[in-house]
Amino acid sequence: MTQKNFLTLLDFSPDTLRGLITRGIELKALRKAGTLHESLKNRILAMVFEKSSTRTRMSFEAGMAQLGGTAIFLSPRDTQLGRGEPIEDSARVLSRMADVIMIRTFEHEKIERFAACSEVPIINALTDLYHPCQLLADMQTWFEHRGEIQGKTVAWIGDGNNMCHSYINAARQYGFTLNIACPEGYDPDSSILQAAGESAVIVREPAEAADNADLVVTDVWASMGQEEEQALREKAFARYQVDTHIMQAAADDALFMHCLPAHRGEEVAAAVIDGQQSVVWDEAENRLHAQKALLEYLLQ
Ligand code: CP
Ligand code: NVA
Repeated sequence: MTQKNFLTLLDFSPDTLRGLITRGIELKALRKAGTLHESLKNRILAMVFEKSSTRTRMSFEAGMAQLGGTAIFLSPRDTQLGRGEPIEDSARVLSRMADVIMIRTFEHEKIERFAACSEVPIINALTDLYHPCQLLADMQTWFEHRGEIQGKTVAWIGDGNNMCHSYINAARQYGFTLNIACPEGYDPDSSILQAAGESAVIVREPAEAADNADLVVTDVWASMGQEEEQALREKAFARYQVDTHIMQAAADDALFMHCLPAHRGEEVAAAVIDGQQSVVWDEAENRLHAQKALLEYLLQ
């Protein structure tokens, strides 16, 4: 595997990750100014989606078009991937035609196998284990609103899922402390947590995790692929809603983030996600700018 990949936040150095934020902010300014910037003319992004998506598909497809390139959408429903063609063979074939490949799938191991047989960079657009692209957007959003994140405290309230794992890696790479409040039985992966050392700690109680936090983050209680556990999870997570009490425990100028899609009345109260401290729409928009920076970095 000689090509650069972005499978987790640990694939890049802290300096590279910070550089992507700076570049994402520049690309956003260029777009707002109406400046044509076609740095990826004639380049092709293949997008393999084995799970649903609104933001990820739209941001990658629009981003490639804005940079002068093309994005091609592939789903298992209408490709041979869905009919059992080996991942390794698909990787060999797609990577001979595309310049970069983005994959959203279930097992993280699948994307690693794909990357091992690809001749071009592979981007993780969400697996059961990680969602690193979302973190590029979240960090850009934080920097735009508040500046430096090093030394700050972030509270993760909810499931120890793919987003939580990427926040644990972000705590290591960007130098903040992550307090994780999740019900017992829904902890993040212990090896991912342990590797982060003191950067990420399980606090358990939501109000305690949020105490004086600079940023409060949550995500759905049942991720894609866990639909059948919805009722069970609603019970387990009932005390883990980010509501106004949680936001009151946080710092006065704390921000609220959620990768979306959100369920008002479940993991977040409407008053919080639709309130003054919420930056979720900037966060969603920044998927576009941050991933354009990522595509440029991988392709140039
Ligand atoms: N946040 C996120 O990845 O959204 P989509 O599932 O809509 O792509
Ligand atoms: N944890 C969620 C994130 C969706 C963007 C999921 O995997 O469904």
